[in-house]
Amino acid sequence: MRKQFAVIGNPIEQSRSPELHHAFAEKTGIELDYVKRFAPLDGFENSVATFFAENGHGMNVTVPFKEQAFALCEHLSERAKIAKAVNTLWMKDGKLHGDNTDGQGLVAAIQALDWSLANTSILIIGAGGATRGVIYPLVQAGVKKIVIANRTLARAEQLITDLKDAVPEAQLSACGLDDLNGTFDIVINATSASLSGDVLVLPENLKFNHAYEMAYGKASSFLDQAKARNVPTAEGFGMLVGQAIEAFYIWNGVKPNIKDFL
Ligand code: ATR
Repeated sequence: MRKQFAVIGNPIEQSRSPELHHAFAEKTGIELDYVKRFAPLDGFENSVATFFAENGHGMNVTVPFKEQAFALCEHLSERAKIAKAVNTLWMKDGKLHGDNTDGQGLVAAIQALDWSLANTSILIIGAGGATRGVIYPLVQAGVKKIVIANRTLARAEQLITDLKDAVPEAQLSACGLDDLNGTFDIVINATSASLSGDVLVLPENLKFNHAYEMAYGKASSFLDQAKARNVPTAEGFGMLVGQAIEAFYIWNGVKPNIKDFL
C-alpha cells in the first residue's frame, strides 16, 4: 500500500505541501499519497489520532496547530524542544514523535542561494514563533551573532532569555525597531507585517548585504527597500521547500535536492 501523508491546518486550502511532496516522490521514485486535512479549531487532537489510527505514515502541521502538536508529542527532537513548536509528526514504537523542520528549511534555502552562514552576523526582525524556530538551526549552521529586533522589545528580550542556553556559542542581543542600525551579512524579515500588508521601515544607517523575507507571494515593503539598495534578496518559498524536504527525509530516508524544486 502507498504510504499515506497529510498536512493539517485551519485554513488549509492554501497549502502547497501536497504538490511539493508529490514532486519529491516522483523525483525519488517513492509511492505516496499526500492530502490536505482541515481540522476544526477544537479538533486537532482527534484528527491526528484518527489519521494515525488509520495507518497514516506522517503528518505536517501548519497554522494554528504547531504549538498543540508540540504539546501532544511523546517524543521530541532537540530542535522542536527549542522551537516549542512541531511541524512534522510520525509514529514510532507506538509513540507520537515530533520534529520542527522550519529552521533547517530556512538554512537550506539560504545555502541554496550560496549566501554564506559560517561566522556571519544576522539581524532577524520579529520575535514570534517564526523567529524562535530558526535561531538554533542558524547557529548550528555557523551563525555567530544574531540581533533580534522587535516592535515589542520585551518580546525579543524574552526570546533571548529563553534561547541563550541552547546556543552558547552565539552572541544574541535584542533591540527595538526604532534602534535598527549596524552592519549585518543577512537581514531576515520574520514578522507577519507583509502578510497583513504593513510597512516595515529600514533606516539608512542599517547596512546589510543580503535580505530574506520569510513570507512569499505577498507585496513586501521590506523586500522593496532591500532591492532599492541593490543587495541580493529572496522570499520564503525556498524555506517552504526546505522544510518539506527535511520532513520528507525524516519519513522516507531520502533527501531530494532543494535546487531541483526552487
Ligand atoms: P509568527 O508565529 O509568524 O512569528 P507571531 O507570533 O504572531 O507570528 O509574531 C508576529 C511577529 O511579527 C511579532 O514579532 C510582531 O511584533 P510584536 O511582537 O511587536 O507584535 C511582528 N509584527 C506583526 N506586524 C508587525 C508590524 N506591522 N510591524 C512590525 N512588526 C510586526
